[in-house]
Amino acid sequence: MLTIVVSNQKGGVGKTTTVANLGAALAARGCDVCLIDLDPQSHLTLHFNIEPDPPDVSIYDVLSGTARLVDARIAVQQNLSVVPAVIDLAAAEVELAATVGREQILRDALLAEPLGHQLVMIDCPPSLGLLTLNALAAADELFIPLQPHFLALQGLGKLLETVRLVQRRINPALRVAGVVLCMYETATRLAAEVVDDLRGFFDAARGSDCPWGATRIFRTVIRRNIKLAECPSHGETIFQYDPSSRGALDYGEMADEFVRYYPDLFPPKARAPAAPRPPVSASYNPAQAPPIAAWKPVRRPPLYNPAQAPPIVAPRPVRRPPLYNPAQAPPVAARRPAASAPCYNPAQPPAVVVPAAWRAAPGPRPVSAGAVPERSLS
Ligand SMILES: Nc1ncnc2c1ncn2[C@@H]1O[C@H](COP(=O)(O)OP(=O)(O)O)[C@@H](O)[C@H]1O
Ligand SMILES: [Mg+2]
Repeated sequence: MLTIVVSNQKGGVGKTTTVANLGAALAARGCDVCLIDLDPQSHLTLHFNIEPDPPDVSIYDVLSGTARLVDARIAVQQNLSVVPAVIDLAAAEVELAATVGREQILRDALLAEPLGHQLVMIDCPPSLGLLTLNALAAADELFIPLQPHFLALQGLGKLLETVRLVQRRINPALRVAGVVLCMYETATRLAAEVVDDLRGFFDAARGSDCPWGATRIFRTVIRRNIKLAECPSHGETIFQYDPSSRGALDYGEMADEFVRYYPDLFPPKARAPAAPRPPVSASYNPAQAPPIAAWKPVRRPPLYNPAQAPPIVAPRPVRRPPLYNPAQAPPVAARRPAASAPCYNPAQPPAVVVPAAWRAAPGPRPVSAGAVPERSLS
């Protein structure tokens, strides 16, 4: 059994699309394939429209020790099974943090009860956390899907460094076997230049004992094709959804190339040589490849050169009519006096009520005896 992990800590580079469609194409060529979804986002599981949703047993149960890997498999097509994932898997990184040997749980599960498949492919989450470490520890080989962009290459050094650490400490057999170029823009020069850089780097390491001393860059590139983005929403592989699309053609050709690299995994009739494609970039000359000790992307002049940029014309303010135009303002109504009578009308003052006692005794107001204490002035 060969175990291949498909990993890149960058998201959206084509890991899941490659595992699903390359896996299906290899199964169609007669290899008995099992795909393991190790991403809590469960995109691979969704790709195959696995029922029930969520599945009863998933890779989370396997990692937490409550289920066997063989019981988590679901057959989805002839020669093709999937071990599904659920969102709970996100908690596994935390739950397993205190477990001794936490990076090797998947490897132990694979060793404990061999699945009996010829090929196991593991789809990883977009991180270099515990789940990816489990996949790297369990695998024989690593495939790295890459989008040929300058920035997409930046993370490659970090990934290779992690692979080197895992190889030294946990899994001495681990090898970077393949680079798969996904979402390839055939019309751009940048893609071909990035591929040249990659070839230079891997050729410089060829023959060394580092884990990427024998890495192949697949000659087949996966071109950008909207059908590949549409098929997961139908729960179908590209071969079911649109077998005549460019996506199906590319993954089919990649599967033929895979058969040439791993003929022992396939029945003899699948090994008929397919017509080779021309290399992605004819400009690359391995003899001139720069020796690279630690890989760094080649710096090229930026595509945007400020010295040649057209002058920036100062923006002119747009004149708009003011929101309030006094000339068109509605006339202000003259203030009308209040309809009610004023509270106090000096012409009609209210009658002053004088106490009867005052009226009876004219002169100063009488003061009751004892009301004011008499004080001696001395
Ligand atoms: N060659 C391609 N052309 C167009 N869309 C693609 C292609 N490959 C993948 N996609 C789409 O790009 C998105 C990210 O791809 P995915 O395989 O999920 O990446 P990852 O697993 O690395 O995060 C998905 O929506 C997928 O359908
Ligand atoms: Mg994915």
